[in-house]
Amino acid sequence: MTQTLTITRPDDWHLHFRDGDILGETVPATARVFGRAIVMPNLTPPVTSVALANDYRDRILKAVPAGVDFQPLMTLYLTDNTTAGDIAAAAASETVFACKLYPAGATTNSDNGVTDPTGIYPVLEAMQEHDVPLLVHGEVTSADIDIFDREKAFIDRYLADIRTRFPALRIVFEHITTADAADFVLAHDSHTGATITPQHLMMNRNDLLVGGIRPHNYCLPVLKRREHQQKLRQVAVSGDPRFFLGTDSAPHAQGKKETACGCAGCYSARAALPLYATFFEEMDALDKLEGFTSFHGADFYRLPRHTDTVTLARETMTIEQQVMAGGEAFVPWMAGETIPWRLA
Ligand code: NCD
Ligand code: ZN
Repeated sequence: MTQTLTITRPDDWHLHFRDGDILGETVPATARVFGRAIVMPNLTPPVTSVALANDYRDRILKAVPAGVDFQPLMTLYLTDNTTAGDIAAAAASETVFACKLYPAGATTNSDNGVTDPTGIYPVLEAMQEHDVPLLVHGEVTSADIDIFDREKAFIDRYLADIRTRFPALRIVFEHITTADAADFVLAHDSHTGATITPQHLMMNRNDLLVGGIRPHNYCLPVLKRREHQQKLRQVAVSGDPRFFLGTDSAPHAQGKKETACGCAGCYSARAALPLYATFFEEMDALDKLEGFTSFHGADFYRLPRHTDTVTLARETMTIEQQVMAGGEAFVPWMAGETIPWRLA
């Protein structure tokens, strides 16, 4: 008999749906499994107001398959021009759930991001006051800092000070990639959380660079050395409620990945839950999967845990070589690989 695993419906606390026709692929891929998702605002132009967030949310909801109950949790993109008034408006809205800090130039579509995080302290003050969570892409962008050191430098230069100045602000250190980031979260109280992606749990920089450049494993923050991966693996299965699921599923068309200057981002939405299950099984920690996927994030965000379930089957699944969306080809992360779990 096939082994099955039934868990409370999970949520994806960090992903990129993009916009336009591709929503017909990305939204169902997530909504089939995840009950809620925090939707990143790095469109072009970025989602900087409640009105833009509401319009984007409507387009997402149109792409939810009939009969599926799915809730997109919208975010605002912080810029140098965001005001405390924008935060009050976000807090008063029914739809905007959090704000995202992208240091300018740190990643895909971050040109309008914040040039100096210390310059937006009045906005962070307002976020603390209105209890709006701050989601952080934690990398500095200065050319003098090595790309592998950018996460640690962000902690030292900015995040430690933000944490101290705004002790009641809920901060999520998104897609953490280093032991330094894990240690930062561990050193603080329950107002600090972190998401961890499947690629940062299952891969390290060897998977990016050994034997040839692997553009489909290229994401930001970039994969780090094995010692960092080991620390992430350890905290993810530790049962610590400050660490939770965020796929950072971030599709880019095949031609934009397989090119001289490839885009950063891994498209993982379709296989995300089986991928996490595969990792937890590797760690002999399947009993900790549900906390990471379905409880810790909901508790951190003070949302109810889901009351329905999803079931995984221990049957092999081979990840598609290619997915067509909006007339373009996309190569999923881990394309062609066979993993031991699938959705039942
Ligand atoms: C994301 C994207 O493509 O939007 N890319 C990535 O490598 N993760 C942006 C981000 O989350 O940094
Ligand atoms: Zn992201």
